Amino acid sequence: MPRRIGVLTGGGDCPGLNAVIRAVTKTAIVQYGMEVIGIRDGYQGLVEANGEPLASDAVSNILTVGGTILGTSNRANPFRYAQEVADGEFVFKDRSQDCVENYSNWELDGLVCIGGDGTLSIAKQLMEKGLNVCGVPKTIDNDLSCTDVTFGFDTAVQVVSDAIDRLHTTAQSHHRVMIVETMGRYAGWLALKGGLSGGGDIILIPEISYTTENVCDAVRKRGARGKRCSIVVVAEGAKPKGGKLTVAKMDKAKHDQVRLGGIAVKLADEIEESTNLECRAAVLGHLQRGGTPTAFDRVLATQFGAVALDLVAKRQFGKMVALKGNKVVAAPLQSAVARLKLVDPDGPLVLTARKIGTSFGD
Ligand code: F6P
Repeated sequence: MPRRIGVLTGGGDCPGLNAVIRAVTKTAIVQYGMEVIGIRDGYQGLVEANGEPLASDAVSNILTVGGTILGTSNRANPFRYAQEVADGEFVFKDRSQDCVENYSNWELDGLVCIGGDGTLSIAKQLMEKGLNVCGVPKTIDNDLSCTDVTFGFDTAVQVVSDAIDRLHTTAQSHHRVMIVETMGRYAGWLALKGGLSGGGDIILIPEISYTTENVCDAVRKRGARGKRCSIVVVAEGAKPKGGKLTVAKMDKAKHDQVRLGGIAVKLADEIEESTNLECRAAVLGHLQRGGTPTAFDRVLATQFGAVALDLVAKRQFGKMVALKGNKVVAAPLQSAVARLKLVDPDGPLVLTARKIGTSFGD
């Protein structure tokens, strides 16, 4: 039986992270008599030996709290660890051996990594270096394979849905086109589900490229039917046909990834220009990631954390917990990170939206 485990949260924060930490810690202590080391700031803490024992008390009263009590680091990759050498200049070093050493110095028998595709891909690489890892899938984008859903997604959908409800009333009052920008870098789940639940008229997602003309036509057609306002829901990663992603900032040095954003403002200008209707953009941004998780996410996160510990106790490492139907199961980590789970353009959600007249701008 493993005696001591580590737990870390990596990548962007997400509602339900604390609920997983709580479930992992309580199950380890109460059910299996293990000790838990909480590793600070994701893989940064594993590289730099920053962690401390987590007692049951430390995870009391965090079920409903957003964020992560452990902290996280944005894509601190031990295999390509950024070190600032001068103002804004970085060199990248392989610090994975430090992870192996710290894991061994802490006398860990297992490591629970809670995160999205980036965090779990690193977990898989650490497993190949001999660490006993177990993954818990997190992302508001819901783009991880092998699980029907990730925790955090339901909360983010609710935020989008609430925002659209509010924007509807102001759009109606002013006879405006409101363009709502959601997160969703590669996958449009959040824009699609949020848009469907809020009654968005036009939904633009990364999986279906749009033309501005088609979007404007859809708005004009609504006008011809007497509709004096429209709601366009656009994922930050949506692209016009043959066009590029809308990039807010290139911060490749630090994060190894560009920061997306700005597509709603761009579309607002384009639609206003073409239709002569007044347009306004609303960017939901990190509102979608903060705050208290929904009841669904609290329960899912708790189940994920408890089952992750069952896997550790059975020494079934190299797995990720996953939701399949209404069961929490184990999936091989390597299948989960091999490819992202994208919206099927011919799938049931898109077809439902099309049936009720939603335009995808294609
Ligand atoms: O991966 C989740 C996500 O929310 C993406 O949708 C978004 O592009 C990204 O995180 C934003 O990350 P950051 O907080 O680092 O800007």
